[in-house]
Amino acid sequence: MGKVTFEHVWKIYEGVKGSEKVAVKDFHLEVEDGEFLVLVGPSGCGKSTTLRMLAGLEEISRGAIYIDGRKINDVPPKDRDIAMVFQNYALYPHMTVYKNMAFGLMLRKTPKKEIDDRVMAAAKFLGLLEPDNLLHRKPKALSGGQRQRVALGRAVVRNPKVFLFDEPLSNLDAKMRVETRTEISKLQARLNTTSVYVTHDQVEAMTMGDRIVVMNHGVIQQADEPLVVYNKPANMFVAGFIGSPPMNFFRGTLASSREGMFFTEDKKPDSTLKPLCVKVSDEAGKILADRVGKPIVMGIRPEDIEDKLFAFDPDPAHVFQSRVDVVEPMGAETFLYVHSSGHSLISRSKGHHKIAANEVLDLVADMRKAHFFDPESQNALT
Ligand SMILES: Nc1ncnc2c1ncn2[C@@H]1O[C@H](COP(=O)(O)OP(=O)(O)OP(=O)(O)O)[C@@H](O)[C@H]1O
Ligand SMILES: [Mg+2]
Repeated sequence: MGKVTFEHVWKIYEGVKGSEKVAVKDFHLEVEDGEFLVLVGPSGCGKSTTLRMLAGLEEISRGAIYIDGRKINDVPPKDRDIAMVFQNYALYPHMTVYKNMAFGLMLRKTPKKEIDDRVMAAAKFLGLLEPDNLLHRKPKALSGGQRQRVALGRAVVRNPKVFLFDEPLSNLDAKMRVETRTEISKLQARLNTTSVYVTHDQVEAMTMGDRIVVMNHGVIQQADEPLVVYNKPANMFVAGFIGSPPMNFFRGTLASSREGMFFTEDKKPDSTLKPLCVKVSDEAGKILADRVGKPIVMGIRPEDIEDKLFAFDPDPAHVFQSRVDVVEPMGAETFLYVHSSGHSLISRSKGHHKIAANEVLDLVADMRKAHFFDPESQNALT
């Protein structure tokens, strides 16, 4: 078992001259037993602080944290039954791989036979025995990815209630990152140990988490399954943070006509392009009826905007004019960096393009996938 409960948890750092820094604000959340929870958000949003309070490396200013119903605010880190993996592996340089993994258990006076069984099982699973047996090497004779696997092994052999990870992949090169990411996912699926994983990388968050918690300025913005966060972002911050390239935003207004509801973007005075004016889906139109005439923000992801030439049966009411800034052929798709009469935007087009900068290009928005936000609160309306 390993259920973690955060109950209205705050972290307030006392600064110089009595100034205060609120690093984590009213963090209230339950992590289910066996769940892989990812905390994601920009630098300084309070991810590590949250994790460090759970680990006992940082005092809790207000609120409480429970593991399986036991309040741990005042329990020393070593008695919390958690194991933490950091960004810098923090291996003991003078100890062999075997000893690095065994050391924590030796300190706890675990029987020798049991230590050996646990270390060998972890080493086997983490690929530290084959193709090369690394158990008798020192950390300096290992690659970054191998060192990180030893650090994982050290956490695994402890058999804790909760694993904590703080950006464990950020020191690895791109290929090792993907490999070790898969390794951690497999490990967690196999051991089914509750895990809290911190990253600022939204791809890691999307691919690894059972649930992701998006944070900004110390506040939870949304906590849900990855695809729910992607498809139904709670606000403009989440919409812009999850997804790469990020969601496009257009400021403008809604108008009603006999043909339905239309969104028209705010145009820059000097633009010679026709302003984007697209028909809103009937479903969204119903929800947005009382917003007609008021400022609103429309969001559309890059993959939901296509070059009209490559769109299947494009609806003329969803076509708009743009001018090309940069064309980036990626192979499988093309990133079109363009601007409309009032906004810069990106389209992920399926087509292969012969267009050049400064050409005028007709694009089609998939309006079933459009999002609408309140410009004041920035919260999602649809
Ligand atoms: N000891 C401290 N004293 C004062 N402020 C601190 C202290 N430690 C962290 N902070 C501040 O608390 C905020 C949250 O820091 P935290 O380390 O949790 O961010 P993070 O989300 O992990 O960021 P990163 O992605 O850069 O690691 C930051 O604004 C940071 O400057
Ligand atoms: Mg951090």
